[in-house]
Amino acid sequence: MARTAWDSTVGKKTVMAVSGLIMLLYLVVHMIGNLKIFFGAGEFNHYAHWLRTVGEPFMHYEWTLWLVRIVLVVAVVAHATSAYQLSRRDIRARPSKYVHKKPRASYATRTMRWGGIILGLFIVWHILDLTTGTVHSGGFQEGRPYQNVVDTFSTWYGNVIYVVAMLALGLHIRHGFWSAAQTLGAGSRSRDRALKATANVLALLLTVGFIAVPVGVMTGVVS
Ligand code: HEM
Repeated sequence: MARTAWDSTVGKKTVMAVSGLIMLLYLVVHMIGNLKIFFGAGEFNHYAHWLRTVGEPFMHYEWTLWLVRIVLVVAVVAHATSAYQLSRRDIRARPSKYVHKKPRASYATRTMRWGGIILGLFIVWHILDLTTGTVHSGGFQEGRPYQNVVDTFSTWYGNVIYVVAMLALGLHIRHGFWSAAQTLGAGSRSRDRALKATANVLALLLTVGFIAVPVGVMTGVVS
């Protein structure tokens, strides 16, 4: 039963929609949390510490954080796997042998594919930069994310990588939210306008909210 659902196109699209919405929820929380950087190092670093102690004393140190990490990894893997399989299916189904010009995937489909690849690469870079410190530009300081963020956005390439990724994120969410709503059956003639507007507002708020941090450092508001 589960196997048949997973093998169907609708099943894979449902997996994409649900995993996408889980990641979207995480991003809204992450973006709001990041804005605390505008209240100074003390408040931002305190917030990062809280992320590790949340749920105590029931949860041990970092247990809640690890739970969130596991859910996110499952969501990313499910999202990427079903995207890849759906796109293979799409390519196989095209009757390219019989037509003169190969039909190209639509603009939205191509944007989603490239956006997804950019975001996948960004997530790896971002974790190596601000969680493990492996590719970090300054001397990475465990437990001091405020200083680490300032270091990242004090380099030109740090700003370029993050701003490009956030623009890709906005486009990806704009179309992805809309597609997820259709897959999950929320679309209808009367609701489609409202759904499109919600997708646009969400995409814009997330992009602007995330980009505010590098802009804050570049302009010296955060230093
Ligand atoms: C300008 C934009 C962003 C900034 C300034 C930022 C900042 C940070 C910081 C400082 C951390 C480390 C937190 C800590 O260790 O306490 C972090 C972790 C993380 N961020 Fe971001 N982030 C941004 C955008 C994003 C985006 C767009 C995504 C997803 C597509 C993302 C996903 C993550 C993930 C998965 C972690 C790892 C959490 C963990 O396992 O500890 N971030 N971010």
